[in-house]
Amino acid sequence: MMNEPQDSMQDLRMFKQALDQHAIVSIADASGRITYVNDKFCQISQYVRAELLGQNHRLLKSGVHNASFFDDMWLTIASGQTWQGEICNRNKSGELYWVETTITPSLDENGLPYQYVSVRTEITQLKQIESALAQSKAELEIRVKQRTAELEQTKHTLEADVLARKQIMGKLFYFKSVLDHSQDALFIFDADTLRMIYLNHSAETWFGFSKSELMQMPAPQSEQLMPFLANSEMVTTLRANGNEDITLDTEYQRKDGSRFSVELALKLVTGNNGKAVLVSIVRNIEWRKIAYQEQRESYAAVQVLNRELEEAQSHLMQSEKMASIGQLAAGVAHEINNPIGYVYSNLGTLEKYVLDTFALLDLYERAETAISDGEVRAQLKFAKDALDITFLKEDLHALMEESKDGITRVKKIVQNLKDFSHVDATDEWGISNLHQGLDSTLNIVNNEIKYKAEVAKEYGTIPEVECLASQLNQVFMNLLVNAAHAIEEHGTITVRTGQQGNEVWVEVADTGKGIKPEHLKKIFDPFFTTKPIGKGTGLGLSLAYGILQKHHGRIEVRSEVGKGTTFRVSLPSRQPPDATSENGTTHEVVR
Ligand SMILES: Nc1ncnc2c1ncn2[C@@H]1O[C@H](COP(=O)(O)OP(=O)(O)OP(=O)(O)O)[C@@H](O)[C@H]1O
Ligand SMILES: [Mg+2]
Repeated sequence: MMNEPQDSMQDLRMFKQALDQHAIVSIADASGRITYVNDKFCQISQYVRAELLGQNHRLLKSGVHNASFFDDMWLTIASGQTWQGEICNRNKSGELYWVETTITPSLDENGLPYQYVSVRTEITQLKQIESALAQSKAELEIRVKQRTAELEQTKHTLEADVLARKQIMGKLFYFKSVLDHSQDALFIFDADTLRMIYLNHSAETWFGFSKSELMQMPAPQSEQLMPFLANSEMVTTLRANGNEDITLDTEYQRKDGSRFSVELALKLVTGNNGKAVLVSIVRNIEWRKIAYQEQRESYAAVQVLNRELEEAQSHLMQSEKMASIGQLAAGVAHEINNPIGYVYSNLGTLEKYVLDTFALLDLYERAETAISDGEVRAQLKFAKDALDITFLKEDLHALMEESKDGITRVKKIVQNLKDFSHVDATDEWGISNLHQGLDSTLNIVNNEIKYKAEVAKEYGTIPEVECLASQLNQVFMNLLVNAAHAIEEHGTITVRTGQQGNEVWVEVADTGKGIKPEHLKKIFDPFFTTKPIGKGTGLGLSLAYGILQKHHGRIEVRSEVGKGTTFRVSLPSRQPPDATSENGTTHEVVR
């Protein structure tokens, strides 16, 4: 017990020593003036003790803390409580240092602080580490944020990418199914190696080969069965053409050997990676060929029909024209026939009367000398001289002849008109030898021909023909006379006959002046003539046309101006049943 205070002092010193070793210690009075600092305080603050004692701690103020920090501290310690905290101070050199501080107020008997004991531990390094940590944490946070943002962005990009890929896949699937179900066969090859990359369903089914057979088919076989499908020359041409398509028609062969026509379209398609593929599209055009053939046939049929229609139309027009002109001719002929008849007969009677009168006059002339009255004789002589009876006798005869000739010609015209209109259909249908008819007609017209032309007969072997013989003779007569008229100096008229199928034909060819093209269409029209008045009426060919119409025949003409003309008459050797029962029936019109 005796040693107790001494021991306590020792302990106290030991603690103080330990404290001084470990901590920065200072003591300040109630007003804050420093009354004690230990060595560590001096050391860290770089001030000597004398510079510190009596000073306020504000000497060490760093400026890091704000006023409220110190207000709070003072409020705590002034109220007798211990304050703990981290303070940043500034040493004499101006450097900052951090201290972990505990300020403990020492209280008097009234409980009021009379001094403050501050114990500090330097934590500058700790603070630096802490600040470095905080900074790196902040940096880390920023980086994490950035990275998160980047990742977010990448996520969005990836999501968009996935969506796009999904859409592309959808489209691809759609296109593939469209291509697979295409009616055309589709092949895709690597343009460089010509290795098959794709083929659609049609390609598989069309050729009868399985997919693997087609994909592994050696090039020579493929080229033989499906020429040009994957052809390197074509690829070269396509490249040279600036990738313009090539389309060609060819023939392909199926596995069973059957062949079919195709249209092949080749195209080079270059992908984003610069690699080109050859797309070969094969279209079966078998149906197109059939349709084209059918179209051609129906076009030809339509053309034939059209021609027939045109012919029928022109025949109909001609027939109608003939019918109306026939009626007109029949009317005219009927009206003229009677007056001409009595004029002709009166002319005969008149001639007889005149001749009788002249005979009487002759008797009177002979009795003239017997007249004793000189005055009467003188009167008679005067009257005779005035009449020029000698001339009158001669001229009257000529006038009578001319009038008779004129009337005969008018009668002939009327007869022609009647024949043309069939008003006098007295002919009988019979079986005739056309050669005989031609020969007799040649005899009749011999006078017209003999000074103009040689007649050459080139008769073939022909059957006897069912016809109205006298009417056919009229046709031949007109053709022969026309031929003679066409020959200006001297020429040849060739009469040919022959048989073609059931038809017999007769040709009258001349070496005359020919028919001008603009006249060719008109020569069968009634009253069309190029001959001078009195030489032609223009009825000959229209008559011939009508007669051949009755015979179910036709008349054709070929002519070359300056060289000659050939008329060909064709008619069936036998008439259709009923055709010969009614004379003058209107039948099919042919020229
Ligand atoms: N062989 C021919 N060569 C040249 N022209 C011809 C020939 N035959 C006919 N023609 C032409 O056709 C026209 C009509 O002939 P068509 O026989 O109908 O009448 P036409 O001979 O003039 O008179 P018609 O026969 O009534 O006496 C003739 O005027 C003539 O111009
Ligand atoms: Mg004539």
